[in-house]
Amino acid sequence: MLIKTPTDLSESDVTPYEIYRQRRRFLQSGLAIAGAAIGGSLLSRDASARLELDRVKPGPYSADEEKTSYEDITSYNNFYEFGVDKSDPARHAHKLVTDPWSVTVTGEVEKPATCTLEDILRPHALEERIYRLRCVEGWSMVIPWVGFPLADLIKRFQPTSKAKYVEFETLYDKKQMPGQRRRVLDWPYREGLRMDEAMHPLTLVAVGLYGKELPNQNGAPLRLVVPWKYGFKSIKSIVKIRFRETQPTSSWTRAAPREYGFYSNVNPNVSHPRWSQKRERRIGEFLKRKTLMFNGYGEQVASLYTGMDLKKYF
Ligand code: MTE
Repeated sequence: MLIKTPTDLSESDVTPYEIYRQRRRFLQSGLAIAGAAIGGSLLSRDASARLELDRVKPGPYSADEEKTSYEDITSYNNFYEFGVDKSDPARHAHKLVTDPWSVTVTGEVEKPATCTLEDILRPHALEERIYRLRCVEGWSMVIPWVGFPLADLIKRFQPTSKAKYVEFETLYDKKQMPGQRRRVLDWPYREGLRMDEAMHPLTLVAVGLYGKELPNQNGAPLRLVVPWKYGFKSIKSIVKIRFRETQPTSSWTRAAPREYGFYSNVNPNVSHPRWSQKRERRIGEFLKRKTLMFNGYGEQVASLYTGMDLKKYF
């Protein structure tokens, strides 16, 4: 993502993925304590405690592609609240307390509310959706998410006719999220969607992956997954949802408006100012593959952008 100073370099910017993996394996085998901490953060929680994971049904739109391994999905992360290195979230996110958790919904809605996670989950049947996630940095994964459509959650708060956009905010707590002590971004992390994007049936509230509760490093207890947009639009560990008449400014756009636009649709025809977006490395694969327009979800979402110049609205 944005590179401001050498200390803000993310590891993928400087380290090829295989070298990163070898180094990680070495660290894990050598440092039993660190290894235990990483394993503990993934496995210690009772996965069935808050989610009805035994009742998850296959959902629509799943990609028929080989899934990325659980280990890669949960150890190669971007979650700058826990550090800018890809391995930082798995090492530090166990500090995040996700139970209890509440989400405040405000702005242009008939029914503003503060809901516990349990209130949010209760009416929704969980589905598994195997979606691609493609990062602006040029890597991608195929992840079996567990969640439910954001549209179903939004309808419960009855947005008014003035609600044109919806803005999301991650928890802001420097004690639990040590990365927030550095001004890498203007915290808290914020993202936004146009209402029709938020209401699109592909847009998911994810609460789990691989049939398990979402690990903290992947955005527990709830995050967005917007599969046709670059990964940074898929905001993690959400505590606020605000319906607005005006377009919100997301954290990455605020940090570098020329590099990260509001739409951030995966688009191989529009280069990032500093690198091409034509190809991507699927984590776990050696050769790069072609990046697909809208990350391969064009059939479902291209109509949202009819008539828009996607070079201007990048
Ligand atoms: N959400 C928050 N709050 N903070 C972050 O740093 N990183 C984003 C996104 N959501 C980020 C975030 C980026 S850049 C990506 S690519 C995805 O999360 C990565 O999700 P994953 O770690 O589950 O693969």
